[in-house]
Amino acid sequence: MAEVRRTVIELLGQLGSSREARQYLKQFSRIEETRFAVVKVGGAVMQDDLDELAAALAFLHRLGLTPIVLHGAGPQLDEAMQAAGVPVEKRDGLRVTTEEVMAVARPVIYRANMALVDALEARGVRARGILHGVFEASLADRERLGLVGQVERVELEPVRKAIQAGALPVVACLGESPSGQVMNINADIAARELVWSVKPHKVIFLTGTGGLLDGSGRVISAISLTTDYEHLLAQPWVHSGMRLKLEQIHDMLEKLPPDTSVSITSAANLTRELFTHTGAGTLIRRGERIDWFDAIQDSLRAPLQRLLEQSFGRQLKADWLAGRKVLGLFWAESGRAAALMTEGVDGIPYLDKFVVTPEAQGEGLGAALWQALRQRFPRVYWRARAGNPIAGWYFQQAHTTHRHGEWVVYTIGIEDFGLLGSVVEDALGRNSGWVD
Ligand code: ARG
Repeated sequence: MAEVRRTVIELLGQLGSSREARQYLKQFSRIEETRFAVVKVGGAVMQDDLDELAAALAFLHRLGLTPIVLHGAGPQLDEAMQAAGVPVEKRDGLRVTTEEVMAVARPVIYRANMALVDALEARGVRARGILHGVFEASLADRERLGLVGQVERVELEPVRKAIQAGALPVVACLGESPSGQVMNINADIAARELVWSVKPHKVIFLTGTGGLLDGSGRVISAISLTTDYEHLLAQPWVHSGMRLKLEQIHDMLEKLPPDTSVSITSAANLTRELFTHTGAGTLIRRGERIDWFDAIQDSLRAPLQRLLEQSFGRQLKADWLAGRKVLGLFWAESGRAAALMTEGVDGIPYLDKFVVTPEAQGEGLGAALWQALRQRFPRVYWRARAGNPIAGWYFQQAHTTHRHGEWVVYTIGIEDFGLLGSVVEDALGRNSGWVD
């Protein structure tokens, strides 16, 4: 095992840094075996990306991680119904499941399940298809929906048994009543119920697009619900499908421990998403509060200094804070991000320090901090070295930028030309507080 791990870490190092990879592997391995991750695989991925999917899952398994896989079979079922001449009908987003539909659906779901199990076994991974015995259900609305099941109870025994036997559990979205009536369960609902019952460290949705897309079709890297949810739902480009997805994830996370995260990614990007800080896909977390303090309380001094020194890999002068006219501090609940505001020219705040640990950057904490800052301060200016790794990002946020040798001064909300001049001059003359 140690040998395998070493090779794999080396491999993972090619995606990001091997330090990152090792850190995540350690983090994921610490979790109780059955609680690492629930991976929901959409029917389309099962159909179009089976090989990539099996490869990504096999890779995790080889690392000693056992995700619980749950899959749908929507597109396969649509196809089969069309071939059989059975019309597809949906109500409230649920597939109306007559006896006739069920007769077509069952073999289709079995086949999809088997295809994934086979693909995994072909790669030398023990896998176990679990078609029944997990979702105990009752009929949601026999009249309107037919054999659509409403989940009453989740039985994890078959899943645990599979994992104990060293097999990767592959669960289908079928449920049954205590008397054995088989029912069709909507895959998103099944995923939610399974997740609530397993309480995994990670919830992973594998989709064709590989993440949630913003207004210009780019994958949104991270969403922190505490700070972004309302704002996101108000965006004109959030169409009904995405709204529904966000609401579902919001409700799902509400009932889980605060450090649970959801990743929406593709089969091909799964490894990168899991083992790097920046990931590849959309990471959604409940997120954390960002508080504003008018003064730096004694209890925050040491943590702030530690955060700055560790993140920048430099040392601060002993009296670095003493010389500053502090306006206040934004401080993330977890202590992994902060922004120190000091008094600047003409009552405009100067952003003296902005710090986010690399890990928290992947979670989108930097963006959340920035948003909090912008909400409180319509005008602000700061400086950074031209070679700063986030110079490009600062450039995007700023309204004006002024380059002076190795320094760049950025401003927001300052229009007056004369004022701009004094602000830039002030920024360039400041003492950083770092030991040279
Ligand atoms: N590897 C970490 C995780 O899986 C961070 C992923 C960050 N992903 C992102 N899309 N921002 O939890």
